[in-house]
Amino acid sequence: MRRTKAFIPTSKEAPSDALLASHIFLSRAGFISQVAAGLYSYMPLAKKVIRKIENVIHDEMANVGAQEVELSFVAPADLWIESGRIDKFGKELLRFYDRKEKLFVLGPTHEEMMVDLVRNRVTSYKNLPLNLYQIKTKFRDEVRPRYGLMRGREFIMKDGYSFHASEDDLEREFNALEDAYKKIITRLGLDFRVVEADSGAIGGSGSKEIMVIAQSGEDNLAICDKCEYGANIEVFMNLDELPEDFDATSITDIKEIKSDDNCPHCDGKLSLTKGIEVGHIFKLGTTYSKALKAEYLDENGKAQPFIMGTYGMGVSRLVAAVIEQHHDENGCIWTKETAPYMVNIMISNIKDNNQMEVGELLYSQLLEANVEVIIDDRKDRFGFKMKDAELIGFPYTVIIGKELSNGIVEIFDRKTKEKTEVNVKNIFDKVMELI
Ligand SMILES: Nc1ncnc2c1ncn2[C@@H]1O[C@H](COP(=O)(O)OP(=O)(O)O)[C@@H](O)[C@H]1O
Ligand SMILES: [Mg+2]
Ligand SMILES: [Zn+2]
Repeated sequence: MRRTKAFIPTSKEAPSDALLASHIFLSRAGFISQVAAGLYSYMPLAKKVIRKIENVIHDEMANVGAQEVELSFVAPADLWIESGRIDKFGKELLRFYDRKEKLFVLGPTHEEMMVDLVRNRVTSYKNLPLNLYQIKTKFRDEVRPRYGLMRGREFIMKDGYSFHASEDDLEREFNALEDAYKKIITRLGLDFRVVEADSGAIGGSGSKEIMVIAQSGEDNLAICDKCEYGANIEVFMNLDELPEDFDATSITDIKEIKSDDNCPHCDGKLSLTKGIEVGHIFKLGTTYSKALKAEYLDENGKAQPFIMGTYGMGVSRLVAAVIEQHHDENGCIWTKETAPYMVNIMISNIKDNNQMEVGELLYSQLLEANVEVIIDDRKDRFGFKMKDAELIGFPYTVIIGKELSNGIVEIFDRKTKEKTEVNVKNIFDKVMELI
């Protein structure tokens, strides 16, 4: 892509209500544009990042044998009446009537729709297990949409649902999905913990959240200093007793809630940290299949409700989570698996034919090698273009400047901010080595 042709409207101004780094930088760097409260348009850079995250998800879902489907966004309210969730979901569920006065909702999650798709189609234990997923827009009319992509009203979710003939098989699938989720978040370059979540009536370890560790996270986590164990502190307390603005900042807060604050799995101690919930996996059991009368015939020909699991991942929230964990005062720092472009070729002075020639050659070589590359061929000042590159957060910028007359170009590493001099003859090989 040529920067002169690219739609990347960067700006010095952040939205006045933006508090989080991701909200500020994704807006300023021309990734997202707010349309109304909790509604965002994705511009080309954001679309590229989203697509990269989606590809990693598709890849790992294929590895665990989950199959992609796509359910309609608009859902008949009848299904929500059948499951009994229409009232429970409250005002977050956006309802409307069509021209025939039939009630519909905008899907905030798709348990009902997925059960409806499978019931009467999968009728035998022989066709189980089954794991279906989609990556789809969701709508939840959140009371306080805020923090940019972190908590939108319209957002992108990967939601998956599995169907089983036994609790043991659900357990196996749940563990496989936990592993797949860990692989996805690891591949995206994020530091995270899988924590036990409050599973309400289901209990046990039936609900786990994947938390990206970040100070700006909304969730308070207790994590073990010796083993992998972690828990959302909701697990330790009765949610109804929590003040709405509760914010645990010291271990004493947990002590008050639970006298014994040692790790339940080892002799390690629990400490508090904050996280962003990017994924949630949940053993549903037969809640939905019973309500919606979704049954299969077991080995004895007896009708049984499907035993189900549900697996959610916040795709658009992940875009924000990457930046919450990876930014500095100058802007975004994309990880390799999430970067909209890996390499930015900076022509310091476009009037210098030599610089242009070297830049164009490297550009075509990298394109040929399937590297995601952008060339900054704008006539603006070098300082301005560098600021822009740092704000957007390309992992590497190749600077073709004055030193070219001595056969030298530089590679700027966005993360370490180090500049390395490279002989112009070796620049292509050096870039390929880095990425
Ligand atoms: N309002 C939102 N904006 C962006 N992402 C969201 C939003 N609500 C949920 N998500 C993402 O979707 C995933 C699955 O949603 P779910 O667990 O059903 O949501 P919740 O925890 O809010 O009930 C969450 O882990 C989160 O990453
Ligand atoms: Mg959740
Ligand atoms: Zn432990």
